[in-house]
Amino acid sequence: GDVAVVLGIETSCDETGVGIVDGGRILGAALASSMEEHARYGGVVPEIAARAHLESFAPCLRTAMEQAQIKPGEIDAIAVTSGPGLATALQTGLAAAKSLALAWDKPLYGVHHLAGHVAADTLEHGPLPARSIALIVSGGHTSLLLLGDLATDPIVHLGDTRDDAAGEAFDKVARLLGLPYPGGPSVSRAAAEGDPDAIAFPRAMLGQGFGFSFSGLKSAVARRVEQDPGLHVPDVAASFQEAVVDVLTRKAVAACVAHGIGTLVIVGGVAANARLREVAAGRCAAAGITLRVPPPALCTDNGVMIAAVGDLLAAAGHPPATLGLSADPSAPL
Ligand code: KG4
Ligand code: ZN
Repeated sequence: GDVAVVLGIETSCDETGVGIVDGGRILGAALASSMEEHARYGGVVPEIAARAHLESFAPCLRTAMEQAQIKPGEIDAIAVTSGPGLATALQTGLAAAKSLALAWDKPLYGVHHLAGHVAADTLEHGPLPARSIALIVSGGHTSLLLLGDLATDPIVHLGDTRDDAAGEAFDKVARLLGLPYPGGPSVSRAAAEGDPDAIAFPRAMLGQGFGFSFSGLKSAVARRVEQDPGLHVPDVAASFQEAVVDVLTRKAVAACVAHGIGTLVIVGGVAANARLREVAAGRCAAAGITLRVPPPALCTDNGVMIAAVGDLLAAAGHPPATLGLSADPSAPL
């Protein structure tokens, strides 16, 4: 049948995620994060992340299985993130997934991390229409993608960032402003107290296709911090956030209009940003575009989004991977 119980494993960065889905329904989910261990380094340290995955995997697996009230015999397939991500971190998830596939005699599917982020939305809002556009905004990626069927059609990149990812810009600006890592939540908290029009930060590459650049914006914030001793952190945070949100939403809507697409999906960690959701909702409504954004818990890395892709691949009759499946840290989509 089409409905399969899939166990998904995500270890591409600093979140250990195990999720179990049954035909688009979430049966169980467990998450552990090494985020706090990276905080004092201002970014994810691969060796620390890998060790944390090794420690967290078995407890997460047990929690997700208990929540789903499921036994190994009732699982139809194992799905695991094969890339992109940190090589050492990916390796831990792959080793775990292969061990389970071998021990339980289940088919194994390698999943692209970004396809996972997109599929997360289908768990909340159901299948995607035949054609849609995705704005993927995370710590490692900022891309506008033209999507067909997630399991069978190639994904077309309409534009990507030339330098920093949007989440990376939030993380670097947080550091400049003395706000805690991860930067997204802390910058957006500070921004809530500030004036988004206080400083006219640059909007790079507006009106120039669907590519992005955020390093100039980060440098503009750095200059501001150096030059202004009486810096009002909330105003800088709000003005920075507004510049990022303005560029992301304008380009995403322009891409939908240019390609005659009626549905925009915004996914990835930065999709948890309240201001991004608010501005995107306004601009999509004005342009007659349906906006889909998963709830914040499904925006950041997790195991169920990987299971959701495994489910789509299995349903599409995609051949399973062999136990030779290897990590592809810089996998193209
Ligand atoms: O998708 P994700 O969990 O991991 C990656 O695959 O990168 O995204 C993490 C990124 C981090 O850069 C974090 O600062 C950012 O998402 N982020 C946010 C918010 N919450 C998380 N950025 C802006 N506003 C937020 N509320
Ligand atoms: Zn991610």
